[in-house]
Amino acid sequence: MSLHPVTRRLMAPDISALKGERPIVALTSYHAHTAAIADKYCDFLLVGDSLGMVMHGFETTVPVTMDMMIVHGRAVARGAKRALVVVDMPFGTYEESPSVAFRNCAHVMKQTDCGAVKLEGGRRMAETIRYLVDRGIPVMAHVGLTPQSINVLGGFKTQGRNRAEWAAIEDDARAVAEAGAFAVVLEAMAAPLAARITQTIPIPTIGIGASSACDGQILVMEDMLGLSPKVPKFVKKFGAVATAIEDAIKSYAEDVSSRQFPEEQHAYGMKEPDDATSGVAPASRETQATKKPKKLST
Ligand code: KIV
Repeated sequence: MSLHPVTRRLMAPDISALKGERPIVALTSYHAHTAAIADKYCDFLLVGDSLGMVMHGFETTVPVTMDMMIVHGRAVARGAKRALVVVDMPFGTYEESPSVAFRNCAHVMKQTDCGAVKLEGGRRMAETIRYLVDRGIPVMAHVGLTPQSINVLGGFKTQGRNRAEWAAIEDDARAVAEAGAFAVVLEAMAAPLAARITQTIPIPTIGIGASSACDGQILVMEDMLGLSPKVPKFVKKFGAVATAIEDAIKSYAEDVSSRQFPEEQHAYGMKEPDDATSGVAPASRETQATKKPKKLST
């Protein structure tokens, strides 16, 4: 028996090596079936803490817990066979100290089988990034708009639209690269600044609302599918999934109401034709519950 899987998942260094070679393709993913589809086209899948807003209806990512990231991270890792799976560390699980960050990141990696973690912050997180990388945890960094700091920033604001802001953001990007991050997300950032950072740091920049100058692009899957009710300006809708879902649910409700569903092909008959007409009363709920369940035929 071979110890090596037939197709190897991409790893953090594979993503770093794509800088200057070709654009890096990424999406967020929170669930196994969509991960399996996206896996065919993406270099990495990010189990973003945006799942708090997209899947759970929170207003921000602040309430997201490590347990939530683990549940969704496991699902995505089961669905994806080739793409690198990166799991976001939620607010409050890594900022306190490098050793707390290590304990929590290692827990998430063990529980989900992901290949890397992502955390928000530039210079302030550099020491932690170095600590994690030195101990075997690949880190994707995230600078520009950092949604976990929404309560300090005062809103989801585009970064770097005034030149006076540039130096600090550039310092953040340089610091995470020097600390050993294998890539960095640039979120909601003025295009000329994103271009300048991409040209000056040695690791790939992954843009979300940061222009085509970046080394790669990521979007929240539900936003680009046309499922999210409200999306930022930088999102292009590549599908109309909300409309498709609504059309399907409306048809279902109509068919159930008019008894057009289920039809004969959706129902189970009896194995012996005689049983169907024997007139035996259906078993009581109690008898059904105590019977050994039979495998359902398809
Ligand atoms: O949580 C998330 O989805 C993210 C992306 C916006 C990059 O961090």
